[in-house]
Amino acid sequence: MTHVSSPSAPRNVVVGVAGGIAAYKACHIVRAFKEAGDNVRVVPTESALKFVGKATFEALSGNPVSTTVFDAVDSVQHVKVGQEADLIVIAPATADLMARVVAGRGDDLLAATLLVATCPVVIAPAMHTEMWFNPATVANVATLRQRGITVIEPAHGRLTGKDTGPGRLPDPEQIVDLANAVHAGARLPQDLAGKKVLITAGGTHEHIDPVRFIGNSSSGRQGFALGEIAAQRGAHVSIVAGNAAELPTPAGAEIVPVVSTQDMFDAVQERAGQSDFIVMAAAVADFTPASQATSKLKKGSDSDEDALSTISLVENPDILATTVKRREAGELDSNPVIVGFAAETGDEHTTALEYARKKLQKKGCDLLMCNEVGMGKVFGQKHNEGWILDAHGGVVDVEHGSKIEVAAQIWDAALAYREV
Ligand code: CTP
Repeated sequence: MTHVSSPSAPRNVVVGVAGGIAAYKACHIVRAFKEAGDNVRVVPTESALKFVGKATFEALSGNPVSTTVFDAVDSVQHVKVGQEADLIVIAPATADLMARVVAGRGDDLLAATLLVATCPVVIAPAMHTEMWFNPATVANVATLRQRGITVIEPAHGRLTGKDTGPGRLPDPEQIVDLANAVHAGARLPQDLAGKKVLITAGGTHEHIDPVRFIGNSSSGRQGFALGEIAAQRGAHVSIVAGNAAELPTPAGAEIVPVVSTQDMFDAVQERAGQSDFIVMAAAVADFTPASQATSKLKKGSDSDEDALSTISLVENPDILATTVKRREAGELDSNPVIVGFAAETGDEHTTALEYARKKLQKKGCDLLMCNEVGMGKVFGQKHNEGWILDAHGGVVDVEHGSKIEVAAQIWDAALAYREV
């Protein structure tokens, strides 16, 4: 597997757009690739242009737009666009377009481009739930995946009319992140199909009073990226998310919002026994105020000022260590692989990796993803790197990459550990 940290510009990226109401979201995708320095060519179908005008795609991409194999015939465009592409992303893809691709049709420029291309292809379908679950569509998606094309699971949510369900185009940022990860070599096989995955993400808030809390700067991005990749690889995903409401929900994942460490502890213990994999990516507060004021503490009141200037703390439960102990005691119906996270800094005596090894032993988990933090590294960033340590003494490097790419490597390691 090759891992490229960020798109090494300029790549030739083809954005295919089929005729669905979500076609307008393709504009954000085109813009994201352009801003990353890619050379973008938009290839819509004729129906896509009924939703978004050709001029919009030309202006955003800076390249001519055509739908037919009969334009620019002198440059053999119907072959050239596919031959030169480094990455093809089709968003949205309709059921009709996927059927045409499966059949090997070449009746418009987009279909012809796909017939020619040998680069990674990522298809993001969007359609009504009934069409998504139609046996023809299900079979076509399976065929495309067998052929090595990445078909992204659609999101659940509001569709064109009043109906809701799976079939919504995921957030453009999620599509671009996944496409970049696939281009960089991340695998999205259905190797977690049917598996139940429980993830903790974000950071916990320990309230002092209704408006003040002790917290940390975890964005939740790594945990959500783990959920995204697991869902794309076929898992049923639950993310117990501490204060990460602004992140888009990965397709099909259940989000369990929590605030404090105790909330997260309760939510995890309730679900741990039904999980095949548990990954604890959350940044958890080790201590919480011994008491929580029910109304806002005020300056000028002696007792409130005392409470604010001296906060006495009590230790929180350790979610990871408790879950491991419950598994060892046979209290979990499932036998989950348990993965911890550690954000470490080294010092003059001990490296971050050595601290991570000690932490893995102390917590008793199977795998530990360790990253070195401090000086602007990792928290809130879109990229990550580090090491994955296992309980048998093994360690693998996690190369610098987007949190999506790192998530794919963590799932590779978790599945490999399960097989040992
Ligand atoms: N963790 C947990 N419950 C806690 C504290 C941590 O489940 N109360 C989990 C984190 O989600 C992470 C792992 O344990 O997966 C390591 O977190 P970390 O904060 O590094 O562990 P600590 O034991 O708090 O170690 P340190 O003293 O270095 O902060």
